[in-house]
Amino acid sequence: MNPIHQKTILLGVTGSIAAYKAVELASRLTQAGGMVEVILTPAAEKFVTPLTFQSVTGRKAYTDADLWGGEGHVTHIGLGRSGDLLVIAPASANTLAKLAHGIGDNLLTVTALASHCPLLIAPAMDAGMFSHAATQENVETLRQRGANIIGPAAGHLASGLVGVGRMVEAAEIYGCVRYLFARSGPLAGRKVVVTAGGTREAIDPVRVITNRSSGKQGYAIAQAALDYGADVTLISAAQYLPAPYGCHLICVQSASEMLDAVLEETAQADVLVMAAAVADFRPAKPASQKIKKDTGIPAIALEPTPDILAHVAARREKDTKPRFVIGFAAETEDLTANARAKLGKKRLDLIVANDIAAHDAGFEVDTNRVTLIFANGEVQTFPTMQKTEVAELLLQQICKWIPQR
Ligand code: CTP
Repeated sequence: MNPIHQKTILLGVTGSIAAYKAVELASRLTQAGGMVEVILTPAAEKFVTPLTFQSVTGRKAYTDADLWGGEGHVTHIGLGRSGDLLVIAPASANTLAKLAHGIGDNLLTVTALASHCPLLIAPAMDAGMFSHAATQENVETLRQRGANIIGPAAGHLASGLVGVGRMVEAAEIYGCVRYLFARSGPLAGRKVVVTAGGTREAIDPVRVITNRSSGKQGYAIAQAALDYGADVTLISAAQYLPAPYGCHLICVQSASEMLDAVLEETAQADVLVMAAAVADFRPAKPASQKIKKDTGIPAIALEPTPDILAHVAARREKDTKPRFVIGFAAETEDLTANARAKLGKKRLDLIVANDIAAHDAGFEVDTNRVTLIFANGEVQTFPTMQKTEVAELLLQQICKWIPQR
């Protein structure tokens, strides 16, 4: 369920070198099933052509030639009414000023005046222009009026200077669009906590004991929960994955850090999905200095880590939060029997059993082959699917448990 699917997105492109990044944005939105109507200002046309956008969206890209064409008297009204969201990326200082003051002197700005949909603006300009009091006031005026402003980011600017003014990357604007469309989804107002990745237990300041979990399944669940409108906290031990836009990301390393974060975040949560591969053992006495080779092969004594789901289960005996708990069972043998035993021991509502011995399931790959085992004894077995599809399955289940408000 990508919330961008079948939405009409008006993409305004203004005169900035970042206009080339808008092409990638238009492409991503189109691939997600959005209907992207691009409107270029005359200054944008100096940087990129309408044909570039038409080639990635498969639709006409509008310019000021359309403002003065045969249908000119209604083009902006039609466009303005059709949009579910108006995205202006990049938004130059000049266009920001026009938007703030209600000036309509090109097809984009008259369309902005004619539209009633939410507005997302990604400013792009030199640092001095962005920090100028006039621009700051214009941004504030637009924000007060309800516009969503994303960026700008700090970094190298076209002028050769380094500062705040770069348009944020297309991937981030795409994530923001996805997030904005999802806000009225079936889980709006519900809090979902997801854990992801393999924890790392210190041997010394350099070395750790960890496992092969990539975090991909947990991240896919966090994205799906956002797509269903939930407020999502992602407690992650995965190091290299980009967090889905709009989630509250808490980075942890060890099982005990994850335990603290889970207990705190689930105190007010509706759902906990424990997708993380939590270490079961940790060095009992991690060395405070790097262990040197010369001292010989170290004997590393281990001790058990806390079982996070056991702590959550203990709290659920006294409290109603989190209302629903989903665990994962990574097994190499006796999949269903082992997973069912964990479901009971950890007092889960649902356990997702996956056979990590299979080459197309479990750690490091993009696919999983799962069996869902419910507390009422029901068992559902699925063929190999993308981790995003497994995430979708879980969210459909969560929606069955939690009726829409
Ligand atoms: N889990 C947990 N705390 C731990 C270990 C695991 O909360 N210290 C959670 C995992 O996130 C998962 C579920 O418990 O949702 C099952 O994890 P798994 O590693 O399959 O089972 P274990 O309980 O660790 O048992 P074993 O490793 O012996 O199979």
